Amino acid sequence: MESLIIKHNELTAEQFIGLWESVWGGAPSPEQTRLAMEHTLFRVSVFDGEKIVAMARMIGDMGLDYYIKDVIVRPEYQRRGIGRLLINELLGFIAKNGVPGTEIFVELCAMPDKIPFYEKFGFSSNEAQRLRMMLKV
Ligand SMILES: CC(C)(COP(=O)(O)OP(=O)(O)OC[C@H]1O[C@@H](n2cnc3c(N)ncnc32)[C@H](O)[C@@H]1OP(=O)(O)O)[C@@H](O)C(=O)NCCC(=O)NCCS
Repeated sequence: MESLIIKHNELTAEQFIGLWESVWGGAPSPEQTRLAMEHTLFRVSVFDGEKIVAMARMIGDMGLDYYIKDVIVRPEYQRRGIGRLLINELLGFIAKNGVPGTEIFVELCAMPDKIPFYEKFGFSSNEAQRLRMMLKV
């Protein structure tokens, strides 16, 4: 892998929105994103020089539940091991901060075509279905 710079807890709302747009379009509002960054347990960002090329974040309660969100590698940087690096960083955060001697529930939501990627780290699906709504405030 080329020389990449990994940063912890520096991901900004602007960077988040830029990366989101690079893969999904229709990014959330700056105000929502700013609050989300502020309340995230752990943010990882990866830079190639000055350019942000990937991000991931972990939300949760530090005790029982950790939830992986917004794992994104810029399309032209995919399939070079950066996604693996992001997940290992997030799992490392739990290993460092989780209550020693306990088992900790780590969850995420993945589209079917991304499941093989997550299975490489030991994630597996169960029969639970994701329920969701978009609540207008
Ligand atoms: C999913 C994603 C993060 C993977 O990142 P990446 O940098 O391409 O992944 P890596 O190069 O680190 O791949 C790690 C391993 O997973 C494999 N892999 C990566 N994407 C895969 C996929 N879609 N299906 C199956 N295997 C995959 C790689 O071949 C590699 O395998 P190996 O270690 O045995 O050689 C990236 O494709 C992405 O950002 N996609 C768009 C956003 C997205 O959908 N995010 C996931 C939200 S749930």
